[in-house]
Amino acid sequence: MQPAEARLRVGVVFGGVSPEHEVSVITGLQAAAALDRARYEVIPLYIAKDGSWYTGSVLLELEAYQDLDALRQAAIPVRFDPAVHGRLLLVEAGARRWPWQRPRRYLVDVVLLALHGGEGENGGVQGLCETLNVPYTGSGVLGSALGMDKVVSKLLCREQGIPVVDFRWFRETDWADHEEAWLDRLEAELGYPMVVKPARLGSSIGIQRVENRQALDAAIEEAFRYDEKVVVERAVRNLREVNCAVLGDPSEARPSVLEEPVRSDRTQLLTFQDKYMRGGEKAGRRGTKQSTPQGMASLDRIIPAPLDEAKTHAIQEMAVRVFQLFECAGVARIDFLLDEETGQVYFNEINTIPGSFSFYLWEPAGVSFDALMDELIRLAQKRHREKNGRVRSYDVNLLSVRSVQGLKGAKSS
Ligand SMILES: Nc1ncnc2c1ncn2[C@@H]1O[C@H](COP(=O)(O)OP(=O)(O)O)[C@@H](O)[C@H]1O
Ligand SMILES: [Mg+2]
Repeated sequence: MQPAEARLRVGVVFGGVSPEHEVSVITGLQAAAALDRARYEVIPLYIAKDGSWYTGSVLLELEAYQDLDALRQAAIPVRFDPAVHGRLLLVEAGARRWPWQRPRRYLVDVVLLALHGGEGENGGVQGLCETLNVPYTGSGVLGSALGMDKVVSKLLCREQGIPVVDFRWFRETDWADHEEAWLDRLEAELGYPMVVKPARLGSSIGIQRVENRQALDAAIEEAFRYDEKVVVERAVRNLREVNCAVLGDPSEARPSVLEEPVRSDRTQLLTFQDKYMRGGEKAGRRGTKQSTPQGMASLDRIIPAPLDEAKTHAIQEMAVRVFQLFECAGVARIDFLLDEETGQVYFNEINTIPGSFSFYLWEPAGVSFDALMDELIRLAQKRHREKNGRVRSYDVNLLSVRSVQGLKGAKSS
């Protein structure tokens, strides 16, 4: 093991203000368990449901999350110090036992983002890292923001000739003023069955498949509880779902093997329960501690997806195109809908921080979870080096005395 000071300090950020909080805790703990301690010092950074940040080794124990209040008591609250640029400096925020004790400081070299949904996946936290100039894993602000919005994602793909299912979208104010007109239009233009989704959520929350007007109306109202923008899609019949992860950045992107998630009821949606609450011993991770949860690995799935070679390649190619189009980095998972009868493949959505980092799609290709973490960190450092290698500001002070005199003249022109 390298001396402690030579190891890279990796802040693993998880939790977050998001309906996918618990799923993120699982991904975060899986990532922390996979980081090679000989090379990395792991600093867990847990964002509670109210948005406050904590550190402390208790955060690495899954059992501790059974009682969130007790967990927060046992963990160490921290706050940022933006005075440091290039690394993340966190300072102990709670009351100290003795007045002469200085608050402990935690310096982080690389931020490993294991957040799902909300600010953690939509570019918000990525923007914070950019502002502090800290290397962070995964996609940047643009890719994260594009990927989070199901409407913008589909518009962008459609514009580039990547097939998407027929869809309509609207905002709450627009809906409220024209409810009946919208229902008529959706029935006439899309037809039943339809799938209703909040535009910017995940894990199937707020998503419903509907067969009649009453259910459509109710599903739209329900979706507006989660987001002020809603998308309604024509439901794909004879549905098979196929996902492909992509690793790298726009200049070096490679696809994983494909997976076919299996729905508990083939006529319905892939639900939150399907995704996270199955037993799934088959998909269990080799060599993990008892307490390491399975997260997305608990989903029943077929790997590789049983498709012929040509179809597999076509989907992998499409996944790489989407990854590059959205300017993604790190690992993203691109999900497709396949109409078994017509053979048509549609882009459905992109997850810029996929559950469990899709480690189970890389293991068949010989990339272990540990190696996947190494890759994410390498890519984060690469982007950071490239960003800092370019000219980003000028040393000329436009507000110096001489320049200001010049500017006065320029103002009136
Ligand atoms: N157009 C569609 N036709 C049929 N089923 C769909 C359609 N869109 C989504 N689904 C089903 O709903 C699930 C969740 O939708 P998805 O868009 O993937 O949202 P999330 O971000 O919550 O995963 C999908 O995995 C699939 O089972
Ligand atoms: Mg999905």
